[in-house]
Amino acid sequence: MSRPAVCFVCLGNICRSPTAEGVFRHLLEAAELGAAIEVDSAGTGAWHVGERPDERSRTVAGWKGITVDGAARQFVASDFVRFDWVIALDRKNAADLRRLAPDDEAASKIRLLREFDPEAGRDLDVPDPYYGGPDGFQNVLAICERGCVGLLEAMRERHDL
Ligand code: 4NP
Repeated sequence: MSRPAVCFVCLGNICRSPTAEGVFRHLLEAAELGAAIEVDSAGTGAWHVGERPDERSRTVAGWKGITVDGAARQFVASDFVRFDWVIALDRKNAADLRRLAPDDEAASKIRLLREFDPEAGRDLDVPDPYYGGPDGFQNVLAICERGCVGLLEAMRERHDL
């Protein structure tokens, strides 16, 4: 059996999804599960392909010892084969992913990060911080930290880790 794989997906793959990826990797390391789960991120859009994550995302995560790195790429239909969990950062990303999904099995892999955030209430979107101020990036990080804890629990349960 190949190891379980998760891909976080936002719009540009330079702010929210690389942050979620970095936070999740950080949690895996702390749980000594670094080699047990494959982690990646991607964007539904292609504008920033090849770019490093936004400096503002890198900075706020760095304050907490979390590395946010990588090169932006666009999510493609074949990613539904590679990943067991496709975690959308907001509902628009999830809708765009559903349109890309080749069949029901693929579509069933799509979940929202905030489904796993106990503080989400009715708001299941991680707000897009790109055009806002620094507070937005800290808010994204805090949501990712809560959501990733919940997601990791769900993955451990499903995959017996
Ligand atoms: P992300 O943020 O989806 O969290 O990576 C954005 C990055 C870039 C743009 C929008 C959102 N943009 O419009 O270029």
